[in-house]
Amino acid sequence: MEQLAPVVVVSNQKGGVGKTTTVVNLAAYAGLAGKKVLVVDNDPQANASSALNKTPFERSIYSGAEAVETSADGVHLVPSGADLADQERRLAGEVGGSLALRDRLKQHRVNFDLIIVDCPPNLTCLPTNALLAATHLLVPLQSEYFALEGLSQLLAHVDGLRQDHELQLTLCGILLTMATPGSALSQGVASEVRRHFGDSVFATAIPRDESAAAAPSHARALVDHDPLSPAALAYLAATKELLQRLGLGLGQRPAASDQRPAASGQQPAASSQRPAASSQRPATSSQRPATSDQRPATSDQRPATSDQRPAAASPEPR
Ligand SMILES: Nc1ncnc2c1ncn2[C@@H]1O[C@H](COP(=O)(O)OP(=O)(O)OP(=O)(O)O)[C@@H](O)[C@H]1O
Ligand SMILES: [Mg+2]
Repeated sequence: MEQLAPVVVVSNQKGGVGKTTTVVNLAAYAGLAGKKVLVVDNDPQANASSALNKTPFERSIYSGAEAVETSADGVHLVPSGADLADQERRLAGEVGGSLALRDRLKQHRVNFDLIIVDCPPNLTCLPTNALLAATHLLVPLQSEYFALEGLSQLLAHVDGLRQDHELQLTLCGILLTMATPGSALSQGVASEVRRHFGDSVFATAIPRDESAAAAPSHARALVDHDPLSPAALAYLAATKELLQRLGLGLGQRPAASDQRPAASGQQPAASSQRPAASSQRPATSSQRPATSDQRPATSDQRPATSDQRPAAASPEPR
């Protein structure tokens, strides 16, 4: 059976929760770990595109845009183009328009090890296309009061889609973003989310960090902009977790969902699933330093300081 790359859709209908920052930085660290990574920018705002490649693009994946190189090692990008808003209107009015992305990704799933799709902050046509094309859902959740409400709407949307379509989707994780170490509110939200979703929540939480906000203006991922910053170290640890959850860590067999889906037998609802990670073996000591050498930051940890290990800045050459 042909091995197909997992397709991770990063979605949350709430705006500004760190979707794009998460896409760019997980992709960059996975690329650094030796994976062939494709980022698909499925958002007319084109933030992932400009964070990885300064060129303005005209076409998007729905109008035949090809994968281009990016500033991040090992990462290619199918950009969002100026036409994406028009494409969205066209797809919304077309029978089968919500399956367009699944179709477009077929060949890319053969050519890459991992595909990560960025989404706009809504649950309309473009995110629906991504959810129908994806094998895994990753939800960045800002550590703030209304976070859980948005999450239940998203999971209800997924369950609704499951009634009409054969979804391959599993929830591969919830990633707490913009956590403020030492803040009672931030920690309270983190405990509430962990209480509800258990192992589905990444052990790593991404701290609020100015470097994360500054990196895109240089069209660079954090690993190339400020690899020792707290957010960079946290995204490094989160990437290690993601690869484990997907069965893409060194020494792991790819998860079953990386293979061509069987014709019958739907997956259970995302909201009730446990991530693959809980049943997977921990990383072995032979893993590349880029994803194995760091301890995961947790929401109750202080951010890393600049005197921390330089491993993130100098991973082993591939
Ligand atoms: N860990 C962080 N610390 C500080 N700022 C951050 C962090 N993560 C993201 N940001 C900043 O917060 C803003 C929102 O982040 P981002 O664009 O990744 O969110 P988004 O969910 O993709 O937004 P949208 O819904 O508009 O697509 C950006 O200005 C980004 O640079
Ligand atoms: Mg975004």
